[in-house]
Amino acid sequence: MEKHLTGPTTERLTMRAMTPDDAEAFYLLNSNADVMRFTHEPLCASVDDAREAIAAYPDFDRYGYGRWGCFLNTGGPMIGFCGLKYLPEFDAVDIGYRLLPKHWGRGLATEAALATIAFGFDTLKLDRIIALTIAENTGSIRVLEKIGMRRDGTVEYDGLHPLKYVIDAGANS
Ligand SMILES: CC(C)(COP(=O)(O)OP(=O)(O)OC[C@H]1O[C@@H](n2cnc3c(N)ncnc32)[C@H](O)[C@@H]1OP(=O)(O)O)[C@@H](O)C(=O)NCCC(=O)NCCS
Repeated sequence: MEKHLTGPTTERLTMRAMTPDDAEAFYLLNSNADVMRFTHEPLCASVDDAREAIAAYPDFDRYGYGRWGCFLNTGGPMIGFCGLKYLPEFDAVDIGYRLLPKHWGRGLATEAALATIAFGFDTLKLDRIIALTIAENTGSIRVLEKIGMRRDGTVEYDGLHPLKYVIDAGANS
């Protein structure tokens, strides 16, 4: 299995697997209540916890891909993440993204997500990518619509009932 520690690069973003050096940026992202509002995940408590979470992240070893840290091509620390996650519960690959609020509203999530979908289909040869988002997360739903995903009902996941979106290989070509 090929391990894709480097993700797609776009006009404004570089995407790569996180390393312990990204722990502070990971902490700032995942301890921000505005970022975490619709994720229903606990807030990250410390830079040490962030470092541990990065070190223990199993997806690249297990599946060859995962959520990549997003970095502006102009330089600076990680501004968020975007990437793919295999969900055994659904035997499906999920796209997810999260950015620091100061970078919202400039189309960066859409740019990262479009490149991630293309990577999933062209490089990983996936047939289908799904996304899960709760109905209140209007910004996330807008991103999913902009990248060409279509609504496919509601599922039960993690004690929640998120909307499911799907896109099939070839849908954007
Ligand atoms: C969701 C998120 C990644 C979007 O990032 P972003 O870079 O601002 O996204 P984009 O600029 O590419 O697009 C956002 C779109 O949603 C719209 N939008 C954002 N918030 C909105 C809101 N509250 N109501 C309506 N539309 C909203 C924007 O206007 C834009 O649409 P437009 O281009 O048609 O104007 C960002 O808000 C985030 O990190 N949220 C917290 C983490 C999260 O919830 N992740 C998703 C979990 S499923």
